[in-house]
Amino acid sequence: MSGTTSQLSVDGKTVDMAIKTGSIGPSVIDIAKLYAQTGMFTYDPGFTSTASCESEITYIDGDAGVLLHRGYPIEQLAEHGDFLETCYLLLYGELPTASQKADFDYRVTRHTMVHEQMARFFQGFRRDAHPMAVLVGSIGAMSAFYHDSTDISDPQQRMIASMRLIAKMPTLAAMAYKYTIGQPFVYPLNSLDYTSNFLRMCFAVPAEEYKVNPVLSRALDRIFILHADHEQNASTSTVRLAGSSGANPFACIAAGTACLWGPAHGGANEAALKMLMEIGSVENIPKYIAKAKDKNDPFRLMGFGHRVYKNYDPRAKIMQKTTHEVLNELGIKDDPLLDVAIELERIALSDEYFIEKKLYPNIDFYSGITLKAMGFPTTMFTALFALARTVGWIAQWKEMIEDPSQRIGRPRQLYTGAPQREYTPIGRR
Ligand code: SDX
Repeated sequence: MSGTTSQLSVDGKTVDMAIKTGSIGPSVIDIAKLYAQTGMFTYDPGFTSTASCESEITYIDGDAGVLLHRGYPIEQLAEHGDFLETCYLLLYGELPTASQKADFDYRVTRHTMVHEQMARFFQGFRRDAHPMAVLVGSIGAMSAFYHDSTDISDPQQRMIASMRLIAKMPTLAAMAYKYTIGQPFVYPLNSLDYTSNFLRMCFAVPAEEYKVNPVLSRALDRIFILHADHEQNASTSTVRLAGSSGANPFACIAAGTACLWGPAHGGANEAALKMLMEIGSVENIPKYIAKAKDKNDPFRLMGFGHRVYKNYDPRAKIMQKTTHEVLNELGIKDDPLLDVAIELERIALSDEYFIEKKLYPNIDFYSGITLKAMGFPTTMFTALFALARTVGWIAQWKEMIEDPSQRIGRPRQLYTGAPQREYTPIGRR
């Protein structure tokens, strides 16, 4: 897509730069030749005003609170489809026909088992290892088990690696959970759908039959849809940067998983629930609101704020609805954490500080309450986020690999260190 040009005058020199327009959303100023023409770099730590790529996958309008996957609003995908349908859409660009969906489900289902020796790989971890540490390790280790799908120049191998990652993430996440609680691993069951299979691998025990609750399975499947992809967020940018060097897809997804773990990103769901538990009761909320507003206090309201959404995160609304659905299904009438969350949201959204800084609940604010009610420990929350986000990482990785203009990502810097100086032998220091 192209538009007009912009001009930049620096040191008496005027440089023309092309403006490229997309299908919707902000246009971009192409600065690729800026350094060659001016000897200067742009400077944008945190990339608040920087587009790193061209993409057709996901679009976010942060002011309007809109999230589209291949043009379809998240609300409609979450309402009408299942997670594997969203996976198909993200990977192929179109919603599947009934036969395409059946074939895709069949292919994913038949990749859900992991190499039997991976179970031995898990034995090397301490039982109290954080599931995200186990996941980062085991996803990276997939490069050592699936050599036949690491050649990124082969489209066939790229697709097999994509299917393997989408299909095996639930199995690896469930194994990470089972390992930390000392229970035997549960193999996937081909007769179950994707999310029911995951619930069974997490909560079934050999000693008795496990019956999947269809309401919980549908709710968790919807939660996976909400987490599937989100434009060029930190972990997706990590996957793209790792992939730009030609690293194999398993290594790239392991890198994205590591980045997602941070509490400012995917780790916020675990941090948000811990925060709600620390607040404990509605009476304590004002104290924490004051801490969040205090410049000298590093405390932040976890689950609030977003780099892009300056309005309500559309996923948070659907998440809140799902929370009520799950609590009702489980007969949890009054969850003190939910009471604190609802009151905290009400107070924050009417507080001048949060209004002025446009801080709204994000997807991580309510997810923890729901996942805890389903029986997941807080340490598993980010692992579930990684499970769902794998398809987004893979779709973005494939788009980058298949982009003919793709080059290795290599940002520059503003150097503020010591100018060149001569070495002083240790005897003279
Ligand atoms: C995810 O990018 C994505 O798309 C991510 C994600 C995805 O799907 O991939 O949506 C998933 O990561 C959601 C965000 C989860 N993180 C949290 O809930 C952690 C708490 N939130 C913040 O740390 C923060 O809001 C971020 C990290 C989410 C956004 O950080 P920004 O864009 O760099 O904003 P900022 O830190 O510059 O904050 C702007 C101002 C600051 O005040 P000033 O310095 O301007 O005076 O708002 C304040 C901040 O102090 N602020 C908060 C706050 N978040 C921002 N104050 C109190 N509580 C908060 N949560």
